[in-house]
Amino acid sequence: MKINENFLKIESSYLFSNIAKRVREYTAANPEKAKNIIRLGIGDVTLPLAPACIEAMHKAVDEMSKAETFRGYPPEYGYDFLLNAINDNDYKARGIDFDISEIFVSDGAKSDTGNIGDIFSLDNRVAICDPVYPVYVDTNVMSGRSGDKVDGKWSNIYYMPCLAENDFLPEIPSEKVDIIYLCFPNNPTGMAITKDYLKKWVDYANANKAVILYDSAYEAFVTEDSVPRSIYEIEGAKTCAIEFRSFSKTAGFTGVRCGYTVVPHDLQFDGVELNKFWARRQATKFNGVSYITQRAAEAVYSDEGKKQIKEILAYYQNNAKIIYDGLASCGFKVYGAKNSPYIWLKTPDGMGSWEFFDLLLNELQVVGTPGEGFGPAGEGYFRLTAFGSTENTQKAVERIKNYFSK
Ligand code: MLT
Repeated sequence: MKINENFLKIESSYLFSNIAKRVREYTAANPEKAKNIIRLGIGDVTLPLAPACIEAMHKAVDEMSKAETFRGYPPEYGYDFLLNAINDNDYKARGIDFDISEIFVSDGAKSDTGNIGDIFSLDNRVAICDPVYPVYVDTNVMSGRSGDKVDGKWSNIYYMPCLAENDFLPEIPSEKVDIIYLCFPNNPTGMAITKDYLKKWVDYANANKAVILYDSAYEAFVTEDSVPRSIYEIEGAKTCAIEFRSFSKTAGFTGVRCGYTVVPHDLQFDGVELNKFWARRQATKFNGVSYITQRAAEAVYSDEGKKQIKEILAYYQNNAKIIYDGLASCGFKVYGAKNSPYIWLKTPDGMGSWEFFDLLLNELQVVGTPGEGFGPAGEGYFRLTAFGSTENTQKAVERIKNYFSK
């Protein structure tokens, strides 16, 4: 028996598990101070589910209690009622035409962006933004596609630095890459891509027979018309892109778990539809999302649900503005926030990002995420999220302002 030695190459714990461990250790050592901890680290929501979703879940629970309406295994790619709601609202309403067989309901974008590598050869060259959501890199390391770590970077991964100098936007690769991970609005930088710039990526991918894995988990936070919510708003995307969506950040489903992935029938390589591969992969390794959860997700698209979710999003958008304006007012260089729940800031006085993490935790009892945890180009940056309560967000900003204005 041989183990998968790729796991030996990777850091022993996932970024957010590592942060949670540090906070637990701090709490054990400083129980009094720890009572004041404000968590703006992992992008986990704090507001309860929209009442329309709760109502739909209660109704679905009741159905599960009666033999006539009980449901067992869900259809492997999602119930038609949810697939149709997604298709009608997220695509047809924006002039994008899909068949529901191109949409796959799942337990979220983390799983799908992590699992999608199953359908591609290990020989592909992967391009990722730096900094980046760690799942894209870690899962390529686990499967053996990354090569070895040399000077903090994986030898087979093509890094696309996203820094203040390039407005945190990746540049079109200067060499051939095969699989391109893009996430917009971006996690962690909070920056958005314009339709015009995304078109350049679509053109690159089509011309170079590359696939774009487009993580659109934060699309609900888009406020500007020039920014796409879906890559399929861009002409030519159906032949080069897979899109990942999530109800986590849109509708507070981080604990409920539901998302979906779109694999167009037009996406074909060597005459093979990737849609068939993903369908085969999901049917084999994934057992579907519960009926109760899918009814809750369907309610996101009801008139009431839409209204309630708009208010929830506005609450987080206001938090983002509080953080952005507050930090900018005391001299921090801040980015993101406009089309995103994330605020990306340059650490002061050239501080390392973990050093800044420790300072905020030890001195101010504020938890954020060190930029370095998202990749080497994240060093010297720090991420805060807008998903806390407004009261805590204001408190955290006041603490930072008081400390750094001195
Ligand atoms: C984050 O904080 O980056 C996200 O919450 C992680 C995730 O969605 O898995």
